[in-house]
Amino acid sequence: MNRLTAICPGSFDPVTFGHLDIITRASRLFEKVIVVVASNGAKHCSFTPEERVKMIKKCIAGLDNVEVVHFGGLLADYAAKRNATAIVKGLRAMSDFEYEFQMALTNKKLNPNVETLFLTTASQNMYLSSSMVKQIASMGGDISSFVPEEIKEDIIDRIYIKNSETGVEP
Ligand code: COA
Repeated sequence: MNRLTAICPGSFDPVTFGHLDIITRASRLFEKVIVVVASNGAKHCSFTPEERVKMIKKCIAGLDNVEVVHFGGLLADYAAKRNATAIVKGLRAMSDFEYEFQMALTNKKLNPNVETLFLTTASQNMYLSSSMVKQIASMGGDISSFVPEEIKEDIIDRIYIKNSETGVEP
């Protein structure tokens, strides 16, 4: 069992500064971090899993101990497959707590070798979410404060074109 491998899961549709803050901090705490682009059955995503992996990779240049993958199955199974002992997530507010608590307990039941660890989200990212970024982009708003320059155009190209009936230039 490798105690030094952690998984950072999410739908990352798209990745934001909030996720990148958690990934960066996890990369300082663990020898290896695997960012897993996973499926949340309740969500319809705007980007394919491959596109989401590509966007995250563009943003983590320099984090040599971070790997990015897509996995379509259960996270608990992936953690077992990669001998990871931790799932690291950001906790934004009390509103996240119940959902996160439920996921942590379920993952523990499915894979007793994996612990879920929560890092407090940086205060400037408390209100941030991927949906918020997409909503702003769809209406031609400036998303520079929420996502890195490297993926800004990828998001605008996809989201703004789909919603071009707003008539606002990005
Ligand atoms: N800062 C800012 N925003 C953050 C954040 C942070 N640190 N961490 C998460 N968020 C945002 C995300 O962008 C997301 O926004 P959105 O709802 O607008 O898309 C929101 O908070 C929720 O994120 P998260 O709690 O990570 O949920 P998710 O839907 O992105 O990911 C999975 C959930 C994919 C990790 C989960 O469904 C999973 O593990 N799936 C695999 C299948 C499985 O094992 N299911 C059983 C789970 S018990």
